[in-house]
Parts: sequence; C-alpha cells; structure tokens
Amino acid sequence: MILLNEHFLKLKAGYLFPEIGRRVAAFSKANPDAKIIRLGIGDVTEPLVPAVIEAMHKAVDEMARHETFRGYGPEQGYGFLREAIVENDYKSRGMAVEADEIFVSDGAKCDTGNLQEIFGLDNTVAVTDPVYPVYVDTNVMAGRTGDADASGRYDNIVYMPCTAANNFVPELPRQPVDMIYLCYPNNPTGAVATKEQLKTWVDYALKNKAIILYDAAYEAFIQDDHIPHSIYEIDGARKVAIEFRSFSKTAGFTGLRCAFTVVPKEVVAYKKDGTPVPLHGIWNRRHSTKFNGVSYVTQAAAAAVYTPEGKKQIRKIIDLYMANAATIRQALAKLGYAVYGGVHAPYVWLKTPADLGSWEFFDKLLTKANVVGTPGAGFGAAGEGYFRLSAFNHPDRVAEAMERMKIL
Ligand code: MLT
Repeated sequence: MILLNEHFLKLKAGYLFPEIGRRVAAFSKANPDAKIIRLGIGDVTEPLVPAVIEAMHKAVDEMARHETFRGYGPEQGYGFLREAIVENDYKSRGMAVEADEIFVSDGAKCDTGNLQEIFGLDNTVAVTDPVYPVYVDTNVMAGRTGDADASGRYDNIVYMPCTAANNFVPELPRQPVDMIYLCYPNNPTGAVATKEQLKTWVDYALKNKAIILYDAAYEAFIQDDHIPHSIYEIDGARKVAIEFRSFSKTAGFTGLRCAFTVVPKEVVAYKKDGTPVPLHGIWNRRHSTKFNGVSYVTQAAAAAVYTPEGKKQIRKIIDLYMANAATIRQALAKLGYAVYGGVHAPYVWLKTPADLGSWEFFDKLLTKANVVGTPGAGFGAAGEGYFRLSAFNHPDRVAEAMERMKIL
C-alpha cells in the first residue's frame, strides 16, 4: 500500500495565488464584460529590456552553431553570471561574497521553498506574520509543524506579529528558534528594515546558533541608500545567514525564471553532538543532485542586467513601478485609507475600511470596482483586516484602478 506524506493534508485550502485566480476566473465567467484590473499577484507587466533581449538573441544564435553550442552547464550557474552578481550586487557595496558562494536557480520561490530540506525536522521555525506563504507551507510539507488552528496558525511555528506598531519589523522571539525567515523589503507589507534592526537579528542568530533565511527579492526597489540591500551588510551575517535574490521583479524575469541564493562558506548548522558542519558543501550537494542548472540563454539574459545599458534600462522600469506605488499610496490616502509600504517596495499594504475582513474587501473590490488585490489574511492571521495592492501594472491601469476605488 502506497502511503501518503500526510503532512500535506495539514495545508490550508489552496496556495494563495491560485485560490485568488480561481475566484477571479469565476467572477469573470459570470461577468464577461467586466474589465478587470489586476493588482493582485506581484507579476510584472513591462516587457524585458532591450539589453536583455539582445543578449538572449545572441545566446540563441550561439546555441545554433557547433562551435558555440552548450549542453549541460554547471549546476551552480555559469562563471560569467556568478562573477557579474558578485561584482555588481556585493563587491560594489563593500561586501565580501565569492563567486562560488552564488547558486544560480530558476526562482527565489523554489530556493526559499527548497532550502529548508537541509535542516533537521526538529528545528523550530520562526516567521513574521503576515508572511510570504511559501516559507510556512514548505515547512508544513516537510513535517516540521503540527496542525493548523482555526486562524490558520500551525503548531510548532513561532509567529512574530508585524504590525504598524512595530513598523512591520518583528521583535525577537521570547522562546528559542532555529530557522528564522526574514524578507526585506517585505512582501506583503512593503516595509523595510534598518541596519540596526537587522543587526539585532544577526546578533540573536550568532548567540543562539540559529540561521537567518533572508529573502531580498525586492532589494532593487529600495530608494534610500541607508537601507540595507543585503543581510551581508551586517557584521557577522556571513556566519549565520543565507540570502535569496531574484531577477523576477528586478528585471522582469517572472516568465523567464532566474534567481540565486548566496551560501557563505562560514555558515554552519550543527550535528546533534554539536559539531558544526558548513552548509556550503551541503547545499551544493543538494542543488547539484536535484537541479541541472538554468538554461544558458536565460543566464546570458541575466548577465545583461549588469551591463551599463541593462542597468539604465532596468532602472527606468523600476522607476515606473515605483511611480505606480506612489500613485496608489496618494490616491488611497486621499480616500482616507491607512496605507503602509510602497516607498521602497512595489507593494502597498492598506487597512481595510470599516473593519471589513480581508476576503470581504477582496470580494467588494472585485465585484464593485473590478479590481483584484490580495487579501492580507492570505499571508497569515495578523494580515486579517489588511489588503495588499501590487504596483506591477501599466500606469494608466493603476490610475484607473484608483479612480474606480472611489466608488467603494
Ligand atoms: C507575490 O505576489 O507575492 C509574488 O509574486 C509571489 C512570488 O514571487 O512568488
């Protein structure tokens, strides 16, 4: 008899975004004339920039000739991309990261979901609440949690509430935790963490032999140089932190797929007898066993992001999305909503009016204004009563969505 991994049965409903997709599809079927504006899932709308497209065309042509054709590449990524990442994302900001500490992959969702595999099942996981659901669900699937309660909180996970009162950056947990997921600029609240705040977490991890799994997928949206782009800007982080980055939002690669994870050679986990084991070799073993690398054409495209033209072209698109975020913030503030985020992140987090539940607000917005957003409750119990609007859309559509919100 084939036995199921019963941990999957603990998962609540469907994954958030397919669930929203189902509801929107049902509404659309019943109202075929409704012109729906999507500010829900953070999916980019602007096409790839010319520098990226040119690099892809060139790479495709190389694949067409015997002399330049490439078969399997290195599982960890081509040297040309790993070196460009190190030079531009780390060395230029004074951080010591080596090219062989970069693991190129097909997405930060996969990386943040997969990385937990290298840790023991007895570890205690700490997440912010609200949180990007992948961190929680993949730990549930692995069996690191108990069942969920009525609010959707799983037993054996330490939830760290992020509210307006703490500027959406959590306080240190009272009980010991081992695997700490942090995401800044934050999805979904759009909040950022200061160097001082991140230092508190790095010091905690050093003292408690914990690990920080730092999701920096939105760092390119930071507008103020005092805000850290990377956990490695904090002293000691190389010993206790793994960082995730992505080209998805930075360079419009949601459909192309390319990301990377940084595993410094100093970072360790411990055997039961207390012996430290470097995680670099362990992740390398896992990555090269289960993954055959990102396509050459895609990695050539990613490397073009770091060329002078690529940087300029991408900056323009990021500016466009951030102008959308400002449009959303200003329009909602005028309408009397309490709004957060959207200054260093492409997400605006708003308090639902008149104590409406997040999903109630979702339905109202969809049916009355034909605008799709993401219910805060979908990101965790502390997200109830909040709502997320994404700035990824064409400026005209964003302006129209804000106009329509006046009728709510
Ligand atoms: C989001 O909308 O939260 C993101 O697009 C999800 C993701 O990056 O997987």
